[in-house]
Amino acid sequence: MKITVVGAGAVGATVADNIARKELCQELVLVDIKEGIAEGKAMDMNQTATLLGFDTRVIGSTNDYTKTAGTDVAVITSGIPRKPGMTREELIGTNASIVKGVTENILKHSPNAIIVVISNPMDTMTYLALKSSGLPKNRIIGMGGILDSARFKYYLTQALNCSAADLHAVVVGGHGDTTMIPLTRLAVLNGNPVSNLLDAATLQKVAADTMVGGATLTKLIGTSAWYAPGAAGAALVESIVRDEKKVFPCCVALDGEYGQKDICLGVPVVIGKNGWEKIVDYKLDAAEQDAFNKSADAVRSMNSVLDTLTL
Ligand code: LAC
Repeated sequence: MKITVVGAGAVGATVADNIARKELCQELVLVDIKEGIAEGKAMDMNQTATLLGFDTRVIGSTNDYTKTAGTDVAVITSGIPRKPGMTREELIGTNASIVKGVTENILKHSPNAIIVVISNPMDTMTYLALKSSGLPKNRIIGMGGILDSARFKYYLTQALNCSAADLHAVVVGGHGDTTMIPLTRLAVLNGNPVSNLLDAATLQKVAADTMVGGATLTKLIGTSAWYAPGAAGAALVESIVRDEKKVFPCCVALDGEYGQKDICLGVPVVIGKNGWEKIVDYKLDAAEQDAFNKSADAVRSMNSVLDTLTL
């Protein structure tokens, strides 16, 4: 098993670090366009291996994709992150050409790779990777919903004073402050709907905090988050390489499921060795479906910006 992470910034390096610690592959290639960054971070991780005892070997590469040949799973994190006050959507002009180029470079050397997209605006970058590569849809997966669901669970643990391990809580729709939909109705603590435990106002605040979870951190740090995005990316890769068949909300191509087509949007999917293998129907109620449709409209209008760019 060979895994490549493109982009050795905070998110990419943290994805790589998590993958190495979990020993998800023998060989992990970290690629960056900036001279030396990937090599240096790879060396740092390989030195960590002597302390923690993991066997994954990390190889750094300054934009040399021949080193990535034979990759089974490639994670794309390249592009600029958002700064305080910016939306993920504002990154589209810069990140679209980067993500398109990286996808081409990966597939040139690893035509069978499964591609995981983390670069923002993630829903549009996933759609771009799918359209520009012509890959079978199951092999392109956007990572956003796992992270957003982690934030949803975090705010629920705060409100309920409970263990996150006892919670199931899912965010669907777009990976944007106004497009994501924390499914409060379906969130459960040990099988007990959280609406039995929290009043409506508290639950609404949990959902609102979740939606701006990334922006709240960005304001504090001055750039966007990396620990939870890194762990979320690695969890997704783990379910692929270990063929775990876990259900995660991921951004995938919809063809009529959840009432939408010609779009990549966050829905619960089974993740295994073939990429995303099946969309799970959570049977949204009318209000949730309405929110999902509005989210799709917003993402679709962002996708239409791609037509105005020369990539
Ligand atoms: C976030 C970025 C990675 O939500 O999209 O933190």
